[in-house]
Amino acid sequence: MITVKKPSEINKMRVAGKLTGDVLKFIEEKIKPGVTTAQVNAAIHEYIVSHDAKPSFLHYRGYPASACVSVNDVVVHGIPSGYVLQEGDIVSIDVGVVKDGWQGDAARTFAVGKISDGAQKLIDVTRECFFEGIKHARDGKRLGDLSNAIQRHAESHGYGVVREMIGHGIGRNMHEEPNVPNFGKEGTGVLLKSGYTIAVEPMINAGTFKIKFDPDGWTTRTADGSLSAHYENTILVRDGEPEILTL
Ligand code: MF3
Ligand code: CO
Repeated sequence: MITVKKPSEINKMRVAGKLTGDVLKFIEEKIKPGVTTAQVNAAIHEYIVSHDAKPSFLHYRGYPASACVSVNDVVVHGIPSGYVLQEGDIVSIDVGVVKDGWQGDAARTFAVGKISDGAQKLIDVTRECFFEGIKHARDGKRLGDLSNAIQRHAESHGYGVVREMIGHGIGRNMHEEPNVPNFGKEGTGVLLKSGYTIAVEPMINAGTFKIKFDPDGWTTRTADGSLSAHYENTILVRDGEPEILTL
């Protein structure tokens, strides 16, 4: 069942969403060569708990950290470690917070120092995919319209759209109905309604869409070793333009 959030619930999601967006702005300034991914995670953890909230990823299905920190060919779910960020790396940071019982979920890919033009273009196009997609996130449209717009924009640049991992409904729980794929056919799928809250999260590979998993069961990499980028926000569907809750 897809839940329509009440105005009072939407207000709580705005608060959780704002904090989630603030975490990403806070951490962006700390991303530089010489910082370890474990330090990034620790700073995020401290920020969330010091704002009277909980990191929703910590212990989720056994996940061992408060953020996912995914470097270069890591698509998502990179586990923070002693890896030292290097000039030229790209790093995707995905965070979730629970505040007053309601969830926010968002991700960005950041440059570490100076990066190649190709890496910057991948980051830019992945962000554009999100904004192309959410043009269709409005009452009366179908999810396939949103999914298709993301896929078309990515593929028009020759990039691969990850299939196995997708966006999701969100509310009291991090993962709710409906599934929100980043690929699909126009005019198909769930009919969107005002009051739905969903996390839209294109995961885009510079090469093919294929992925592989590390033995840790979490770290997800491009199968061909190409770079990958991620851009996610929690949004509210309305009659008209969606409200982005995690900017
Ligand atoms: N942000 C991810 C998602 O949108 C969840 C991360 S998985 C976790 O589904 F285990 F790290 F929580
Ligand atoms: Co998500």
